[in-house]
This record gives sequence, C-alpha cells and structure tokens, in this order.
Amino acid sequence: MLKKHFLLLSLLKTVGLLIFLCVLLLVKHLRDVLTNIMPPGPFPLPLIGNVLNIGFSDPLGSFQRIAERYGDVSTLYLGNKPCILLTGYESFKEAFVEQADVFTDRPYFPIVGKLSKGKGLIFSSGHMWRQQRRFALATLKYFGVGKKTLENSILQECRFLCDSIQTERGLPFNPQHLVTGAVANIICGLVFGHRFEYDDHKFHLMQEYLDDIFQLPISNWGRLYNHFPTLMSMLPGKHQTAFASMSELQPFLQEEIRKHKEERDPSNPRDYIDCYLDEIEKCKDSEAEFTEENLIYCVVDLFGAGTETTSNTLRWALLFMVKYPEVQEKVQSEIDQVIGQTRQPLMDDRTNLPYTYAVIHEIQRFANIITFTPPRMANKDTTVGGRLISKGVMVLPLLKSILQDKNEYSTPYEFNPAHFLDENGKFLKKDSFIPFSIGKRMCPGEQLARMELFLFFTSLMQCFTFQPLEGQTLSLKGTIGVSSGPGPFQIHAVPRKCRF
Ligand code: HEM
Repeated sequence: MLKKHFLLLSLLKTVGLLIFLCVLLLVKHLRDVLTNIMPPGPFPLPLIGNVLNIGFSDPLGSFQRIAERYGDVSTLYLGNKPCILLTGYESFKEAFVEQADVFTDRPYFPIVGKLSKGKGLIFSSGHMWRQQRRFALATLKYFGVGKKTLENSILQECRFLCDSIQTERGLPFNPQHLVTGAVANIICGLVFGHRFEYDDHKFHLMQEYLDDIFQLPISNWGRLYNHFPTLMSMLPGKHQTAFASMSELQPFLQEEIRKHKEERDPSNPRDYIDCYLDEIEKCKDSEAEFTEENLIYCVVDLFGAGTETTSNTLRWALLFMVKYPEVQEKVQSEIDQVIGQTRQPLMDDRTNLPYTYAVIHEIQRFANIITFTPPRMANKDTTVGGRLISKGVMVLPLLKSILQDKNEYSTPYEFNPAHFLDENGKFLKKDSFIPFSIGKRMCPGEQLARMELFLFFTSLMQCFTFQPLEGQTLSLKGTIGVSSGPGPFQIHAVPRKCRF
C-alpha cells in the first residue's frame, strides 16, 4: 500500500514537472515571438514552428499563399528557427542588387559541412567564395562561353544527340538518358577536356553519384540531418547513400586530376582542371583556398549545378512540344524558313527566330525548375520593403513567385509563348524574367545555359517531330528536387529531313 502510494506520488511529481517545463517553454516561446520585431508571418507553434502552415500535400502552394497574405517579406519558423520568405521581383532587386554586398553569403547547414566542408562554389561564403567564383567565371570565359569555340563543341554534341535519337527509329523512348548525357558532356568538355559516350559505365556512375548528392539537401533526409546531425549520422537512410556517393565520386575525380597533372602543359591549359592546377601553383592567398581538395568540390558543384538544370529544362521543352503540337509546328516552320534543313542552327540565328526564342523563354518560365534559389543570409541588420532582416537570419528567395507574377504575365499558369512577343511578333525582353536569379550570386553558368538551350532545342526541332504515344496523357507535374524536372515519360521522335 505504502509502495503504491509512493509510486503515485512520484508519478504526480514527474507529471507536475513536465507540465511546469511545458508552461515554461510556452512562456519563453510567446515572449520570443511577441517581442520579436521580425516581418509578419503565420503564428509559429513551439518546437515545430510553422510546419502545419506549410503542410505536406502542397508545400510550394503554401509558401505562395503565405506570401500573398503577409507580403513580399514575411517570417516563417522552420522548427524553432525563424527565416525570411522573400518573394516578388522588387524585393529580390532591393535585396540582391541594391544591397548586393549584404546578401552574398549562404547560411551554414550541417549537411553542407558534411558533404563539402562548406567549400566549392554553391554553398561557400566570404573571401573564399569570392575568389573561387571569380576564377570560375574567368575560366568559363577563357574557354569560350559566349564565343565560337564553345558554340562549335555544343553543335558537335547536338549532332551526337540527334544521331542517337535517330537510332530509336521513331519508336517510343524515354529521352532522359540521352539528353542528360549530352548536357553533362558540355560540362565534361569544359572541366575534363573530353566527352564520354552516352553508354559509358563510368559516365553513368558519375551522374548517379551526383544525383544522390544534389537531391539530399532538399530531401526529408537532408532536413532531418540538418536538425539532428549527430543522431542521423548513426542512422541508415538516403543521407548515408549520398555520403557514400560523395566518397565514391572523389577517387574518380582524383584520377582525372592525376592524369591532368601528368599531361598538362602550363603554357597551354586545356580545361578548368588545368587552369585550376595552375592557380594552385601561382596563388599566394592561402585564404582563397586554391587546393586540390577544393578543386574537387568546385568540379562537383559545376556538374551538379550545370547538368540537371539544363537537362531538366530540355526535357520540359520536349514535353511541352508534345503537349502543345501547334507551338511545335510554328517553331519548326520558323526554323525551316530561316535556317532550312541543310545546315545546323547558329547562335546568330537567334535574332531571326523571334517565335522560337520566345518559346524557349516560355519553357523556362513555365517549367520554373528552381522554386527556391539556395538560401542567403544578411551579413548585417538591414531592411527590405521597409521590413527588418536581421544579421544571420536565413533568407529563402522564392523564385517561382516572380516567374508567375500576374502583373507581368497575362496568363501566368498557362504555357503561352505570347508572354515574350510584342504586338508585331517581335521578341519581347522582360527585366523581371530572372530564372538565373540576380545579383552577385546569380548563376555563373547563365550564358552557357542559354547557348545550350538555344542550340539543343533548335537542333532537336529541326531534326524531329516529337509526338505522344497513342492514348497517353502526359503529366505536367514536376518532381521535387534542387531543380524540378518532369517525371519519366516516353515519346516518339519522328525524323524530319535534315541533311548535314
Ligand atoms: C537552365 C539552366 C540553369 C538554371 C535555370 C540555373 C539557375 C541557377 C540559379 C537560380 C542559381 C542560384 C543563384 C542564387 O543563389 O541567387 C544558380 C547558381 C549556380 N549555377 Fe546555375 N543555372 C543553370 C545552369 C547552370 C550551368 C550550365 C552551370 C555551369 C557552369 C551553372 C552553375 C551554377 C553555379 C556554380 C551556381 C552557384 C553560384 C554561387 O553560389 O555563387 N548553372 N543557377
């Protein structure tokens, strides 16, 4: 009896202590939230923050609704951490262009620490990022981004791609493998100085590893790791697959670096790796971190950022052409009139192909492959749209909101090339069309990507008519990832009469 009484008493004590702790937590939470002078946003719950406001079925729609309700600069709590949701072209401009030096850094995440030690190009910050980015831009320029030399190697890859599609003989096929291979080969040329055959085993493995690595930061596994790094490092899951992929990829890249070291002629660099090895020897600034280790992280970032983005856009392009055959027909007829069937397209043809050029812009707008740009962080207290953004708070830029702005596009939720045409059928440039983002952190591969999109798309339209399978309904729902592509699909590529 006495023992029972004692047990009941200690149970009551424990419950009482728990209630006391909960009340304490609630009071602290209310004090933190109510005394906070951050921009408005939905009321956060203790510990879980705004998880319920974001929801699981349509998280992207939820972000958009939050922005519509609270304005272009609002606060969201991811768990117990506040962050700023930034939407709208004017806010992007005010933050990333007018205050370019304030918003260049990325916040730190445990997952980035684990995958790249915070090095490389995409997730690095400060002096090291500035130097690595400057070098990457200069090297891309040196190897002809925006010039004839690179145009010729993209055109060569267009021929390889079209030849491989030709071998499908108009039968149903999934274009993913060929399109991704073609786009990856452009980066291979710039970084390694050579391309791979589309069915090369090593080439495939490399793409698989990169996929694992770049899907992780946006996946639930990545989010869990960011919240509980020590616990998650002991548990199995997709995060472990990505860590293993990073370890597998490194020897592959080290081997490329070793070969480059043996064969290179410093007076005649062949590619990014040669130039980087040269910079390691020359650079006296140790904080810029030109090291072989950082070279590996930069190469991973160039592949990760430069392959999936462009290949997803091209796969969307094929899907839209199948879905909207009247647009495909108009593009083909413009190409037939301006270029004909006996030579390949050139970048100079752009000005004479206003409809095709408008279609490429609309593909990028409607596909909207990058919902959020990688997060930013202010390096001092500042304001955007008159609202306070405190130093160190994570800023989530919702790029999607800008490409679907009702004030800029008459039918934002429809595929409509007229968004980029004036009343005379001429191409209409829009300042707020920023799929590559803006400011000092904007995509350094924009020019390269634009060349690839134009040359690959026009070549494919010149050589094939893409058609759906009989009775097939193609879904326009995108996959969730750092860049969103269409789900796997099959189409027919019916050859046209190209002779070159
Ligand atoms: C259609 C194709 C592409 C799209 C839509 C795209 C878009 C973007 C966007 C939105 C960002 C984030 C910018 C920011 O944080 O504000 C970015 C960053 C980046 N992109 Fe691209 N990109 C594409 C192709 C490429 C290519 C071909 C390369 C290869 C050279 C590349 C390399 C990078 C790198 C290295 C970064 C990180 C830059 C930094 O943090 O300083 N991208 N890209």
